[in-house]
Amino acid sequence: MGVEPDYTLRFARMRAVDVIRQKRDGLALSDEAIDFFVRGVTDGSIPDYQATALLMAVLWRGMSDEEAAWLTQAMTRSGDRADFSAIPGAKVDKHSTGGVGDKTSLILAPLAAACGVIVPMMSGRALGHTGGTVDKLESIPGLRLSLDLDEMKRALGKVGCVLIQQTSRIAPADKKLYALRDVTATVESVPLICASIMSKKIAEGIDGLVLDVKTGRAAFMKTVDDARRLATLMVTIGNKSGVRSEALLTAMNVPLGRAVGNSVEVIESIETLKGRGPRDLEDLSVALAARMVRMAGLEPTNAAAESRVRKALAAGAGVEKFREVIEHQGGDPKVIDDYNRLPTAPSREVITAPGGGFVADIDAMAIGRASMALGAGREKAEDAIDPAPGLWIKAHVGDRVSAGDPLVEILYRDKRRSAEAAGLIARAYSIEDAPPSPASLILEEIVQ
Ligand code: URA
Repeated sequence: MGVEPDYTLRFARMRAVDVIRQKRDGLALSDEAIDFFVRGVTDGSIPDYQATALLMAVLWRGMSDEEAAWLTQAMTRSGDRADFSAIPGAKVDKHSTGGVGDKTSLILAPLAAACGVIVPMMSGRALGHTGGTVDKLESIPGLRLSLDLDEMKRALGKVGCVLIQQTSRIAPADKKLYALRDVTATVESVPLICASIMSKKIAEGIDGLVLDVKTGRAAFMKTVDDARRLATLMVTIGNKSGVRSEALLTAMNVPLGRAVGNSVEVIESIETLKGRGPRDLEDLSVALAARMVRMAGLEPTNAAAESRVRKALAAGAGVEKFREVIEHQGGDPKVIDDYNRLPTAPSREVITAPGGGFVADIDAMAIGRASMALGAGREKAEDAIDPAPGLWIKAHVGDRVSAGDPLVEILYRDKRRSAEAAGLIARAYSIEDAPPSPASLILEEIVQ
């Protein structure tokens, strides 16, 4: 039998090692310990190795809802809280917990803005095997994503939508921890995801937030129960902090849409805004945008809001708003009409069906890893993301294929990387004799 540490023997001053030990041993952290940790991460007095040790302890041992709420507040307080109250209209944002091929932000932000919502959208970079909106947007030549508060206000007043990356003044503790979690396998934790998302969303100065909480084999929350706990916690914390929040639980077992990567996902987003996108991607983007429109008080029900969003989509108002956003932020608006202006990989390889039948399943986790293998994700914090490589799914779930038909087109720079991706893709596909039964994308709604 080991000897239990005596937690009553305290040093006069708090030490990171003691906070790590407490969480390692499954104890709840006090508000003071959480504040100490967040302050130390923000000002750099706690080194990365201690920060990641605590992250790993939290991942294993968990946190109570009270600890998670305090961690969220402490991370919100690590920087400023933006104030857009001088801009008329309700400010509503959307955030996803991360998926493969999940490009809904690029579609719904301009679409909701075209319907009259003020959208200050602050997005993240790739996390683990999932893509990041900021990395995707960086494919657009010239587009500036680092705007200061005054520039954001001007953009919101003029265009009604701004797409930015996290500034160093908004939840800086999250900025640091997000990058560490990405490369230390410490993402999949309810309290850490909750605090990461809600700290920056509360600090962002919005009135309403729609959360897309993914669940399934390629989501950070593998089970619906875990996704529901995360969604409920985030919605509760948002509502208590003055940000009206709602969540959809959505399935993340197969890739969303047909493009996975960075510039390829920008192309698919523009195609969707032009009314030529895949059905699953369009439907989810519209469902999320409709909730933003309803939360902004522009329509009384989700159904009315959805019909308004669909009308805007059909009229091309979303794609024109996206053009305006790109132009206002210094990007090349001609990418909307000419995809050759986006970075593209020099080489292509097509993975074909080994036999005939119906595509019964595509493992989104394997596809996400294939995209990372091509260079579209990070393995170390300092790794740069390559916007050009990616993949196009030519045969999606439910499609009928014959032997030799294309399943996936890989866009690559480096043959070794493409070979690794090809192996993952081949294993991701299941082809069977009978068509699969249709699966719902939206599983539940959390509204309090
Ligand atoms: N998105 C975030 O901003 N943070 C997470 O931890 C996961 C998804």
